[in-house]
Amino acid sequence: MTRPPDGSPVAPTLAERDRAHLWHPYTQMLTAPSPLPIVRGEGVYLFTEDGRRLLDGISSWWVNIHGHAHPKLNAALAEQASRLEHVVFAGCTHPPAVELAERLVAILPPGLTRVFYSDNGSTTVEVALKLVRQYWINQGQDRRQTFIALHHAYHGDTSGAMSVSEDSLFTRPYASMLFPVVRAHSPYCYRCPLGLERKSCDIECLTDLAKQLEQGQDTIAGVIVEPMLQAAGGMIVWPAEFLAGVRRLCDRFGVLMIADEVLTGFGRTGRMFACEHAGITPDVICLSKALTAGYLPLGVTAATDAVYDAFLSQDRTKTFFHGHSFTANPLACAVAIASLNLFQETHALERVRHLERWLRAGLEPLGALPVVGDVRVIGGVGILELVGDKSSKSAGGYLDHLGPRLADAFLSRGLLLRPLGNILYFMPPYVITESETDWAIQQMREVLSDLRI
Ligand SMILES: Cc1ncc(COP(=O)(O)O)c(C=O)c1O
Repeated sequence: MTRPPDGSPVAPTLAERDRAHLWHPYTQMLTAPSPLPIVRGEGVYLFTEDGRRLLDGISSWWVNIHGHAHPKLNAALAEQASRLEHVVFAGCTHPPAVELAERLVAILPPGLTRVFYSDNGSTTVEVALKLVRQYWINQGQDRRQTFIALHHAYHGDTSGAMSVSEDSLFTRPYASMLFPVVRAHSPYCYRCPLGLERKSCDIECLTDLAKQLEQGQDTIAGVIVEPMLQAAGGMIVWPAEFLAGVRRLCDRFGVLMIADEVLTGFGRTGRMFACEHAGITPDVICLSKALTAGYLPLGVTAATDAVYDAFLSQDRTKTFFHGHSFTANPLACAVAIASLNLFQETHALERVRHLERWLRAGLEPLGALPVVGDVRVIGGVGILELVGDKSSKSAGGYLDHLGPRLADAFLSRGLLLRPLGNILYFMPPYVITESETDWAIQQMREVLSDLRI
């Protein structure tokens, strides 16, 4: 708390009050700078207590799609709050939960007909893993216990979700709390695990998954992937052929496929769901983040009838024993329905496809800068992989000081970005305009032109 010259007390700032009691996610509380005191949001902008306007270039951790404080979403929330704020979802149901399930089943990849609600991305993954594991037990195939996950995966921060995420800085301290998982190559074309070039390869990286399935035979329960865009593990954009290949291999070896679309769902990759890029239906899909347009925490794990049917029995031990206090929260479901309405009214998918073209045109020329090793664009996500040297592709890891250095540089220009180490990405709400996108790209050009790694 700062005192004016006459010594009279001044109310502490929001950041000072925060510091007294709060503990932030992914934050080294000893060394991190003060948190940004955000007091208001509107469209693509956030406003700070001290009067700054920031363009939200990360959609507030990838959740926002229609812009902040949208009047129609606000109204849907207020209207639902005046009727029913929450009710237990074991033994009860309510209109928003039913309508949202109907609306989702109508747009999900065909065959995903059963909707299970939870609270966030990580819990949708926990639900998916438990569903798949018990699916096999309920059918007397107890040996199918093992999951295959991909290198560079990130599926969340709860124990099961961490288990199927890449063994990394994020998971290592908790290794004793995780279950063993088999890992297979992902199609990280810029750093191909087989040293091949995408222009001439035949998606040979898929053979690793085939090998693991072959070796695992009747012990594998399922394969979990982030379709088309592995996000926190490095913003890795896939060739659609890899995704199609995962489905083919799961079918061939008779195991279940889980698509974690927590980030990619609801248009982020230019299709409503990323699985559509390969025209496939997974056995189980995980949705969260943009499900409520970034308003409230809500998760959906949806499954096929075949998965659901394996739980139907007179034997009550075959029940899916999972639930959360806030399962199917009516406020969250009501906002999710309003968001789907807005999606149609605003032609959001076309907006994302236009944004994709705009990002490509603006970002590809940045590939000529000495520090830009790779430019990747998919849907509403533009990615620059930064390197110290283009031929060796040298780069520091997540803890490298480059990330915070860049974040500071952009912040001072009014652009909120959170690079993942050397991976700089731009993922704005879909309502961003061409001129706002151009402005953000110009900031990237200027900051990166001066950058030495
Ligand atoms: C693909 C994917 N799965 C799961 C999660 C975890 O979601 P949450 O942070 O809501 O728990 C994330 C979060 O970034 C994600 O990107």
